[in-house]
Amino acid sequence: MSRWPIDDNDPPAAGTTAPLPVDSVPELRGHGLVLRGWDPGAEAQVRTWLHGRSDPEFRRWNTPLILDERLDDARTSLAAHVRAAADGTGMPFRVTDEASGATLGHLGLGVVSRPMRSGRVGYWVLPEARGRNVAARALLLATRWAFTDFGLHRLELDHALGHEASCRIAARCGYPYEGTLRGAMWEAGRHDAFRDCHLHARLSTDPEPGAP
Ligand SMILES: CC(C)(COP(=O)(O)OP(=O)(O)OC[C@H]1O[C@@H](n2cnc3c(N)ncnc32)[C@H](O)[C@@H]1OP(=O)(O)O)[C@@H](O)C(=O)NCCC(=O)NCCS
Repeated sequence: MSRWPIDDNDPPAAGTTAPLPVDSVPELRGHGLVLRGWDPGAEAQVRTWLHGRSDPEFRRWNTPLILDERLDDARTSLAAHVRAAADGTGMPFRVTDEASGATLGHLGLGVVSRPMRSGRVGYWVLPEARGRNVAARALLLATRWAFTDFGLHRLELDHALGHEASCRIAARCGYPYEGTLRGAMWEAGRHDAFRDCHLHARLSTDPEPGAP
């Protein structure tokens, strides 16, 4: 059983209790979706991971530092994401359709600061599954879990300036705009440049909006 480690020297986080231990990636159901774990040993899932991460829109907006070009790259990067669940540094969810079981995309939570119980969220939706609010529905589910079961107090979401769809998703999911971070994201390939980001965040004490 893995447990989110809290150092003895960590200052107490006001108003929160210790996070619950997390055995593995939990299954989250709601809004027509099931969020579950990825399996780097399943060939079909590795192919889907590669499909999502080699999409030009993914590369434009998620700005990965290392690009997955081949199946082996995808297997390695998926395994790294999955390891985060075991060592308590994150939680990678495969977003699936509740009715068909088809994979629709990915949503990942990363721990930013354990003492402050803050995290960051990122997501992508497969090109063929876009236009149905999958990201917003998945984000609502994962946010609720992160605050109630994973023990987070604050979740941040940042997106490159001009990414209107993500700005809309953040607002829909109760993550208000908090400011612009200068040169906070590296855009590899097209421009090879640092670019500015919008920072959005939600607190565990903020109200939960309804699903779109
Ligand atoms: C961004 C992304 C996750 C959205 O996928 P999705 O859940 O299918 O989103 P939708 O197409 O249903 O759109 C969500 C909302 O944004 C709005 N939107 C979509 N494209 C838009 C655009 N170009 N300009 C303004 N609003 C836009 C939609 O109208 C919708 O708003 P609504 O809730 O009022 O209906 C998906 O396009 C994607 O994976 N892109 C590549 C990777 C990426 O950008 N990841 C996020 C990095 S921060």
